Amino acid sequence: MASPLWTLFLVSLSLASVALAAVPRRPVDVPFGRNYVPSWAFDHIKYFNGGTEIQLHLDKYSGTGFQSKGSYLFGHFSMYIKMVPGDSAGTVTAFYLSSQTSEHDEIDFEFLGNRTGQPYILQTNVFTGGKGDREQRIYLWFDPTMAYHRYSVLWTVDQIVFFVDDVPIRVFKNCKDLGVKFPFNQPMKMYNSLWNADDWATRGGLEKTDWSKAPFIAHYKGFHIDGCEASVNAKFCDTQGKRWWDQPEFKDLDAAQWQRLRWVRQKYTIYNYCTDRVRYPQLPPECKRDRDI
Ligand SMILES: *[C@@H]1O[C@H](CO)[C@@H](O)[C@H](O)[C@H]1NC(C)=O
Repeated sequence: MASPLWTLFLVSLSLASVALAAVPRRPVDVPFGRNYVPSWAFDHIKYFNGGTEIQLHLDKYSGTGFQSKGSYLFGHFSMYIKMVPGDSAGTVTAFYLSSQTSEHDEIDFEFLGNRTGQPYILQTNVFTGGKGDREQRIYLWFDPTMAYHRYSVLWTVDQIVFFVDDVPIRVFKNCKDLGVKFPFNQPMKMYNSLWNADDWATRGGLEKTDWSKAPFIAHYKGFHIDGCEASVNAKFCDTQGKRWWDQPEFKDLDAAQWQRLRWVRQKYTIYNYCTDRVRYPQLPPECKRDRDI
């Protein structure tokens, strides 16, 4: 396997870890209660190991969810999640940032369950100033129900990057100059939830939730948040000290990260609004900043 391509791949892997080493360590044992509170159906959340690990339960009566105590302007937001195993068709496990304002900004991860042995879909979306319609869908390169994986968002003034473990799966560049709104002044909270969406989630709604398999259980840990906490008035965001995501290396993906993103696009992408010419005969402006498209 010592082909030049293989070597190149290894070299880029090590380059990627050099770049990522600039990101502060993120402890995985931060308890739920330090940064989060339940949002709804409190009795459907179960706590383990002193609250360092939790489960969300979905049954035919209710799903459930939790949200960050603080609101944030920029930062790196991550969560370790182990998805609902077995027959998860109809369920959606979501991890997102949202400003919950009238013209809201939102950064979404949505994991669409499936029948036993069939692949999950990861759908992502970005809303800016209330406008979304920017869906992308991928398959994952592993079974997300077998182990914890880290899902994260890096939100800086220049870009929003979606990561699965350390692989960037999507980037949304700041294209203010092209007239595209970019989230910069509405603080967002982090939200996690598990609910029933069998009207659309699996094979477009054809596969219904099998309630005889309930409760459906998703696992969470790593309740650390690495964001700039803001008060209601965004101007009070604490900027003391240099925020690591303002460093030049986070202005853009590095070469190795672009290469990994290309790999995701080539091998795992099911849908990308930026290539949907039927829906968008005229390409949305931000897509022009999406390399390789
Ligand atoms: C579920 O499995 C089917 C069949 O393999 C596949 O077409 C579909 O994309 C999968 N995922 C979802 C969420 O529908």
